[in-house]
Amino acid sequence: MCGIIGYVGGAPAIPVLLAGLKRLEYRGYDSAGLALQAGDRLVALKSVGKVAGLAEKTRQTWTPEEQQGPRVGIAHTRWATHGAPTEPNAHPHFAAGGGIALVHNGIIENYRALRARLEAKGHVFVSETDTEALARLIGEAYQGDLRAAVLAALRQVDGAYGIAVLSRDEPGVIIAARKGSPLVIGVGEGECLVASDPAAIIAHTRRVIYLDDGDVARVTADHVDIVDLDAARIDRSVGELGFAADAVEKGGYEHFMLKEIHEQPEALRNALRGRLDPRQGTAILAGMGTSPRDLAEIRRIVLLGCGTSLHAGQVGEHAFGELAGISASAQQAAEFRYRNPLVDPDDLVVAISQSGETADTLAAVREAREKGALVLGLVNVVGSTIARETGRGVYLHAGPEISVASTKAFTCQVAVLLLMALRLGRGRRLSRERGAALAVELARLPELVGAVLAREAEIAAVAERFADQEHAFYLGRGPMQAVALEGALKLKEISYVHAEGYHAAELKHGPIALLTPGTPVVVLANRSPIRDKVLGNAEECRARGACVIAVMTEGDDAAGIDAVLRIPDCDPLVATIPAAVALQLLAYHVARRRGCPIDQPRNLAKSVTVE
Ligand code: G6P
Repeated sequence: MCGIIGYVGGAPAIPVLLAGLKRLEYRGYDSAGLALQAGDRLVALKSVGKVAGLAEKTRQTWTPEEQQGPRVGIAHTRWATHGAPTEPNAHPHFAAGGGIALVHNGIIENYRALRARLEAKGHVFVSETDTEALARLIGEAYQGDLRAAVLAALRQVDGAYGIAVLSRDEPGVIIAARKGSPLVIGVGEGECLVASDPAAIIAHTRRVIYLDDGDVARVTADHVDIVDLDAARIDRSVGELGFAADAVEKGGYEHFMLKEIHEQPEALRNALRGRLDPRQGTAILAGMGTSPRDLAEIRRIVLLGCGTSLHAGQVGEHAFGELAGISASAQQAAEFRYRNPLVDPDDLVVAISQSGETADTLAAVREAREKGALVLGLVNVVGSTIARETGRGVYLHAGPEISVASTKAFTCQVAVLLLMALRLGRGRRLSRERGAALAVELARLPELVGAVLAREAEIAAVAERFADQEHAFYLGRGPMQAVALEGALKLKEISYVHAEGYHAAELKHGPIALLTPGTPVVVLANRSPIRDKVLGNAEECRARGACVIAVMTEGDDAAGIDAVLRIPDCDPLVATIPAAVALQLLAYHVARRRGCPIDQPRNLAKSVTVE
């Protein structure tokens, strides 16, 4: 949520900052700004709207020669929390008569008190943001040493931050600090970058230092030194980014979302690699890191996540129950710590998060750990906060996901949850034969998903038929209820069609009143013991004039269905993955047809780092 990029080195900073912001735009895109060291001044530009607007303003404001000048700068793309997306509220924020510039991700929770105190001293705020209070605190504390001033200011703030700060009086220096909001430093040859996400750095260097909470770094072109909030020196090792620059390019696709949908066979292959043992009918998940006895003693499983990750947990709920006989419940991470959660040391808590930074999921992880539960992370972004705080868990290896709407992370989350359920099941009641059969099915996932992708043109044709509708329903039962919820979420977030996911049997308890002739109802009716019940529910909708679009197994009779999306025959739990892919494509093509900004839907952010 919000993106930060900073540059210090020998190259012109403006193009680096603008390109970095473009990479980060998926994190927030309602306004953007930059500040540069230009001789003995700081200069800045801000604009409302997307980064392209800021780039245009840069061209209009400075001549090409002027744009080549500055070698040090910080920039930000915003997802508004405090104050509307206006130029005064856009970052950077300034203090000390324009001598200090700050960009900030996160929320300063005690900003009202800080602001009142500063106003009482005569400060006149120019924005409605929490960030400006922090900028002014740094300005107040500044006595010729920027890092000392940042430390003094940070000791007074509560809340979360990832920040980058410049001073007019300290050329060639960026101060970067984090607490609760990710920040990474790229260490290049004679240049360094600071960013909220490695995607903004990868074009320059693969060598990175991940800051930890409480770290305050002084970054120059050829040196990074880090201290904690008490100014004590800290060593952080330089690591290598595990993905290539082209992983964050569109690679010829019209949108990142479409690229990521098509990457799923490969992403699943990576998520499954080395983790299946078909002979023993089990999964090998070293990251679970617990002895077979500990695993055998797990009494309950709580699956935590937000948004799409919560839906993955809801599939997991069924898998753990069915395969391992363990009572599992998927819970909204945002709710978890406010309901005095009943977790104890016999419980396994699985925190599911693509980014590994979602504030609510992180807060729930902390709560669960405090209660003594065994907490595992199911995370995509390596080195992210949840991955580090859980200390153990299983990475998805789905590769960078840029599109705001999650696709490949979801299918990999479900795949890994199925692996976990298989592993736990084999330690309990699941027979080797059933385990082996499931392992074989899981190994086929790249191929199963590939078969759905091969039908994209058919799915696009179905999307054409209902792209003009304003309401849709998605129905499923068992694990497919979660897929219905996810399908509806995909549609609403990228196409702005109002869509609701329901248990197929629930529709008649109220929502059916909303059906009018032609309302699209997507039903998940794959081959399974409950398929005929679902088809019965679909009939109830057709009887009221709805247009039924069914996800069905290849070869099954689709008589009476208005449109069919086919998935290959496979185990009903495994089928959640190809079915989800079909619904991703459906949503994508509806949104494309409606001309929506697919990778950056209005009001959304990829990584929600505020509670
Ligand atoms: C945001 C994103 C969703 C994502 C959710 C949870 O809402 O737009 O795509 O599912 O956050 O994010 P996480 O990174 O924890 O999976």
